[in-house]
Amino acid sequence: MTYVLGGLADFPLDKATSVKAGGTSYVVVRSSEAPDDVCVVVNKCPHAGLSLTKGPRGEYADGVITCPWHNSRFDVCTGENLDWTPGVAGIAVPRWSRKLIAMGKSPAPLEVVAVTIEDGKVVIDP
Ligand code: FES
Repeated sequence: MTYVLGGLADFPLDKATSVKAGGTSYVVVRSSEAPDDVCVVVNKCPHAGLSLTKGPRGEYADGVITCPWHNSRFDVCTGENLDWTPGVAGIAVPRWSRKLIAMGKSPAPLEVVAVTIEDGKVVIDP
């Protein structure tokens, strides 16, 4: 089943926007370098299953989203994990404590969603 998340203009450039469809929350990103393309991932951090867009201190910049809870960083277009549990709420912690924060979970990627642009609309096929 496909879902229309909105028009391209509904998603500001260089920001991570959350939107719900079919009972699931997604993160949509448009880059000013390629404004007619978008990347979409499920809005659920693979570490503890928490939101990537709601929390104490997350951020998005240059195609990379930082989880607001334990600072894991991900490439939003490939889903690749770039850094795993390096802190808490935007505050870095010593390297030795990362395993404690990871709570036994190994690094994992974001769930990337297939997306197309159809007549200016962002359409996903999860
Ligand atoms: S919930 Fe995202 S890094 Fe822990």
